[in-house]
Amino acid sequence: MTGQDPTTPLDIDTSRPHPARMYDWYLGGKDNYPVDEEMGRQMLALDPRVPVMARVNRAFMHRATRWLAKNGVRQFLDIGTGIPTEPNLHQVAQQIAPDARVVYCDNDPIVLAHAAALLRSTPEGVTEYLQADVRDPATIVEGARKILDFDRPVALSLIALLHFISDEDGAHELVDRLLAELPSGSYLMMTHATADFTPEESAVATEKLKAAGVTLALRSREEFTRFFDALDLVEPGVAVVPEWHPELGDPVPGQDDGVIPGYGAVARKR
Ligand SMILES: C[S@@+](CC[C@H](N)C(=O)[O-])C[C@H]1O[C@@H](n2cnc3c(N)ncnc32)[C@H](O)[C@@H]1O
Repeated sequence: MTGQDPTTPLDIDTSRPHPARMYDWYLGGKDNYPVDEEMGRQMLALDPRVPVMARVNRAFMHRATRWLAKNGVRQFLDIGTGIPTEPNLHQVAQQIAPDARVVYCDNDPIVLAHAAALLRSTPEGVTEYLQADVRDPATIVEGARKILDFDRPVALSLIALLHFISDEDGAHELVDRLLAELPSGSYLMMTHATADFTPEESAVATEKLKAAGVTLALRSREEFTRFFDALDLVEPGVAVVPEWHPELGDPVPGQDDGVIPGYGAVARKR
């Protein structure tokens, strides 16, 4: 584990909501605080399907990881990991490929506090946790290189992360910088929330989160697709999250109850 000594007291700010803890609350986890639940309930009042969206998003991660492992990928760099929720990415990958190597990375100290659950690799594989911010790609690459072989394909996993990164912080440029470090044959797997289907509710949600200090940068289908400009999209291309290779997983209860306002895709570096 690198980036911060896990034995030092963690600087967990319970005065404002944090995305990792709100997401944990949506998923029915216990690693959240009243401030997260309060904001989560406000999001639910705008769209009661938010917990379904969280599970649908998580299920995409499972399916995309399965697809990649079945297609020979053995290395994963997962940024914006979230509080561990079984099965985690390494468990999905290592079920297919026990020798898979996974580097997790998040900037929230609560994820660091629970990182031990991410470090239970198979004996043949490896898992590691880095405490770092996606806006600091140099630190992430430096840490990941100690575990992953950057001469062999790596799947860069940015699942439900980039809608917390504004254009001012250079979301598209950050992805390009990370991909530039990876060899050809690497992959990008990503989901992203959008306002395309619920513009009014999304605008209110964005304002509420902003007032609480959380950036929400929802992007259109076109803006999402731009992340993959220099890559070859895997079939079926950019899809509404549950429609990406549904055959690779089990349906999430409630997912057919209207369009899930998020896009997902997997693409290969040329
Ligand atoms: C909605 S959760 C997604 C968790 C997981 N990827 C999944 O899809 O199940 C978003 C995660 O991104 C992390 N995050 C947000 N901003 C970040 C940043 N600037 N750098 C690294 N992680 C960040 C949050 O702490 C949180 O754990």
